[in-house]
Amino acid sequence: MSNKATLQYGDKTYEFPVITGTENESAIEIGKLRAQTGLITYDEGYKNTGVTQSAITFLDGELGILRYRGYNIEELAGKASFVEVMYLVLYGELPTKAQLAAFENELTMHTLVHENLVKVFEVFPSRSHPMGQLMTMLSTLSSFYPESLNPNIKPEETNLTIIRLLAKMPTICAMIQKKGKGHPILYPQNKYDYVTNFLYMTFGNVSEEYVADPVIVDAMNKLLILHADHEQNCSAATVRIVGSSHANLYASIAAGVAALWGPRHGGANQEVLEMLEDIRDNYNGDVEKVVQEVKDRKRMLMGFGHRVYKNFDPRAKIIKVACDNILAKLGVNDPLLDIAKKLEQAALNDPFFVERKLYPNVDFYSGIIYKALGFPTQMFTVLFALGRLPGWISQWKEMRERKEDIGRPRQVYTGPTERPFVNIEDRK
Ligand code: ACO
Repeated sequence: MSNKATLQYGDKTYEFPVITGTENESAIEIGKLRAQTGLITYDEGYKNTGVTQSAITFLDGELGILRYRGYNIEELAGKASFVEVMYLVLYGELPTKAQLAAFENELTMHTLVHENLVKVFEVFPSRSHPMGQLMTMLSTLSSFYPESLNPNIKPEETNLTIIRLLAKMPTICAMIQKKGKGHPILYPQNKYDYVTNFLYMTFGNVSEEYVADPVIVDAMNKLLILHADHEQNCSAATVRIVGSSHANLYASIAAGVAALWGPRHGGANQEVLEMLEDIRDNYNGDVEKVVQEVKDRKRMLMGFGHRVYKNFDPRAKIIKVACDNILAKLGVNDPLLDIAKKLEQAALNDPFFVERKLYPNVDFYSGIIYKALGFPTQMFTVLFALGRLPGWISQWKEMRERKEDIGRPRQVYTGPTERPFVNIEDRK
């Protein structure tokens, strides 16, 4: 096949290079389109626009494939720890034993946050949403490490910023939950690994010895791995575009948290649980009635549909099985799981969903697991952010290493054409 694409416009023909990735996905490079033809491309919501060449994550929405650095998500979720996957996503290779030990040690050495950062929590009203707190805390970190504001620091200094952020994220997330409950915060303990430390700080109690439940540690590792990266989604694209202005890492990641918060993106995991509770409490579990309301456009089916997956979301498949196993192991019998399964079946058998290729996404079952593990609903999207952090950082790092230009889309202007200024006394 030709590595050029031809465009005929007016009485002229133009040629544009076609670039092809390692999985044979091809793209027409249109950087010179406007200079040559006066045209720009128009693609609302970037449905069909590639903005970078990335070596981190591959996904095929038609076949339901997701790989980090070439490794299938099913294998990673089954065989690796979250810290191994963090290393893989960030540095491109699975760590050796020595590399993993060194990485874990680095992460352990930076888990504490400055005491003044803890004081920032005092200003939040008791009902403030955890995602708003997380955004604030992450951007506030830049005040404690002003050297990170310099975009020209050496790679090893950037790496220290990355380690600090990864190490402090579980501490901050756990503090948000503790503060929300009005409980004293717990400081990180160096004897624990990354995930266990997070669970200890979140569920431990100052007055009792903490005993980690291996079922919960394993479930948490799996969930975090499944969320670790997802190529150019709304939040990752946000992190990249904010970082492309040479904004510091903390600010760029805080912007990613803002993007993730929305109910059409990561905020859907909270909305799914609230929807299932609504079906239990106000519909007496009648999922057919809810499906009909969705078809009548009265509501969205949260946790369903995906911009890229037009086949099963592979993460949802893994989470569904994990959900059954974890609830069984923990001895939890949650009627919401039955409602979720019935709802899924009702939707998958309905032509409305079949024709639109709407399948459960990663958020459909994750909330039921988080609930079983003991997290309050408002914390769900924070957990998504905790998992996604290595992905966002890798996207930011790659963008900087590629020395990408500042992100600056164009538009087709549809407002008024030039008109004279009207003095205030003459305005109608
Ligand atoms: N419930 C009901 N109808 C839906 C849903 C849904 N969850 N999702 C899509 N549709 C319908 C649309 O109304 C549209 O119908 P139409 O062609 O008759 O107008 C059709 O399916 C195609 O939908 P689009 O809006 O074109 O899909 P898009 O790719 O733009 O949106 C999105 C994807 C935002 C994820 C959407 O499916 C959605 O809002 N889902 C619910 C929220 C959710 O679960 N978000 C989490 C996504 S995964 C993640 O971010 C981690």
